[in-house]
Amino acid sequence: MSYAEIYEGWKADPEAFWMQAADGIEWTRKPSRALFDDKAPIYEWFSDGLVNTCWNAVDRHVENGRGDQPAIIYDSPVSETRRVISYVKLRNAVATLAGALRAKGVGKGDRVIIYMPMIPEALEAMLACARLGAVHSVVFGGFASHELAVRIDDCKPKCIIAASCGIEPGRIVHYKPLLDDALAQSGHQPDFCVILQREQEVAHLEEGRDYNWHGFQYGVEPAECVPVEGNHPAYILYTSGTTGQPKGVVRSTAGHLVALNWSMKNVYGVDPGDTFWAASDVGWVVGHSYICYAPLIHGNTTIVFEGKPIGTPDAGTFWRIIRDYNVKVLFTAPTAFRAIKREDPLGEFIRKYDTSCLKTLFLAGERADPDTIKWAQNHLNVPVIDNWWQTETGWAIAANPMGIEPLPVKLGSPSVAMPGYDIRILDEGGHEVGPNTLGAIGIKLPLPPGTLQTLWNAEERYLKSYLSHFPGYYETGDAGYKDEDGYVYIMARTDDVINVAGHRLSTGAMEEVLASHPDVAECAVIGVSDDLKGQVPMGFLCLTSGVERDHGAIVRECVKLVRDQIGPVAAFKLACVVDRLPKTRSGKILRGTMVKIADGQDFRMPATIDDPAILDEIAEALKGLGYPKAA
Ligand code: COA
Ligand code: AMP
Repeated sequence: MSYAEIYEGWKADPEAFWMQAADGIEWTRKPSRALFDDKAPIYEWFSDGLVNTCWNAVDRHVENGRGDQPAIIYDSPVSETRRVISYVKLRNAVATLAGALRAKGVGKGDRVIIYMPMIPEALEAMLACARLGAVHSVVFGGFASHELAVRIDDCKPKCIIAASCGIEPGRIVHYKPLLDDALAQSGHQPDFCVILQREQEVAHLEEGRDYNWHGFQYGVEPAECVPVEGNHPAYILYTSGTTGQPKGVVRSTAGHLVALNWSMKNVYGVDPGDTFWAASDVGWVVGHSYICYAPLIHGNTTIVFEGKPIGTPDAGTFWRIIRDYNVKVLFTAPTAFRAIKREDPLGEFIRKYDTSCLKTLFLAGERADPDTIKWAQNHLNVPVIDNWWQTETGWAIAANPMGIEPLPVKLGSPSVAMPGYDIRILDEGGHEVGPNTLGAIGIKLPLPPGTLQTLWNAEERYLKSYLSHFPGYYETGDAGYKDEDGYVYIMARTDDVINVAGHRLSTGAMEEVLASHPDVAECAVIGVSDDLKGQVPMGFLCLTSGVERDHGAIVRECVKLVRDQIGPVAAFKLACVVDRLPKTRSGKILRGTMVKIADGQDFRMPATIDDPAILDEIAEALKGLGYPKAA
């Protein structure tokens, strides 16, 4: 069937479409129906089914004869390690870890925070939680203690699983001290912590609270899979909103299984047994969905890569991995390709490796710029497919469905709506606009299976953030347009979220940190364009009156403060002191205009600006930081 037939088929009978997709999953009790809309606009999927994620991702493949197939291939240029874990080995490891967690009291519904680098044990920990019906929340290693503490206080874990350290090129990331620091800051304390001691750094364990990963599993009874209701939370994943309090996206179990399984064949075009590589991190949604869950649910081999696209050791690392492990599909963020392209513009490293096994490259996480797409097309000689989604949706809203029918690629567009998503472009009043007209992107409710069910402990915030502005729609926070063929174009965020190297960050959260500096009276953070990372944050600081300290010292302290509070991943390195911030007469900071000046774009003087002269002062300060950059 063609894409159009499948999409129209879904529209005509969504219930039948999703019940059929549900056949790809093994249920302990089959659901009686797909959609549960009695609490609308909060929708649930497959709620009366009983199912276990770990069974579907691991055990069933062993039962069905895939026991010896590699489930996880770990390749770590930073620790010079490679390891292959078959499905049977993974089942045994996960059952034992789950047994050890259960012996210490972790059960269905308990939260477990996982703070680990890109090592297979991170996936084992996620799957062990799923086995017990416990709800994991993975925290990205590039976040600092304060961010970890905020998440600990919000989801109140019974247990925290961490590694002693992570390895970034040229430095060790001290995870355990960061965790200890977070626990010192948080009101909530877990019952216990489990620490995987890596050979690069052996951490101090606190007597009575911290257990060694290996010792704690010794001699325990392996745990069986615990079936849970379809609407039981599978995990919480925090993502940046407009404030310092991140949003805890709640993914429910059954919809997650059904949608991810469907996406592997239909969107990504892979069959069970194929090797699928998402070069991201388990701390992000791409890592949850396409390093851990989807490939395993679908019976694929997944790659856990602990390294960078460049510098570990060179710009040929990706091609080596593709060749060595027979990778059929690579999924990564455009920034990884921009980094490789900068280092190896002529693609000389690519020619050193036989990458003929690679059939498709998928890009997501940020806008895929046409130059990067063209470079990848030319040098890899495979289709380069953009797909658009978010932490909240968990899988592609728009894509080119390679497993159904490859559609013509239009550069700059992630192509068309996937079944389940009815994408509409809306004006400020919530009315749909015509083709090629920019507007806010809404998705008609209900969202499909696999998308967020609510926000953890914050249903009101869920309704307010996503469902209230345009009644009847989910508000994506992205602005863009659709062309006459239904291709969508994602142009900008409508909120204070910026995208730095494919990482979603909140300028509001950075402003909260800067405002805590004793010399800062007021501040603004904007995202400016960056050739490598897409965007980088830039801070403007207005000092408290009477402060006469050296501006350079204050800027350095502010940069350190953001790194210490939010983490190195914020990549906050640019800031300057200004006398005043440009505002409207009602006091709203004109961040959008500041971005345009920094990016060297034409802008119209805002009619409501209080004092236009301030824009000249901002332009002057930007010049000091080297902006706008020469084209
Ligand atoms: N743990 C601890 N620190 C981390 C980290 C982790 N897991 N991941 C990144 N960091 C640190 C980096 O070391 C860097 O620190 P520094 O300021 O001391 O150099 C900082 O956070 C910023 O990291 P990053 O934005 O990744 O920049 P980079 O300069 O190290 O690398 C790229 C640039 C393009 C190579 C890198 O961003 C990349 O590989 N991106 C791929 C995109 C991706 O995976 N996106 C995920 C969503 S799909
Ligand atoms: P995250 O929740 O971290 O995955 O970030 C989601 C946001 O990243 C989206 O709302 C978009 O702003 C942006 N994004 C993700 N994928 C794309 C894409 N393919 N094209 C343009 N923007 C994207």
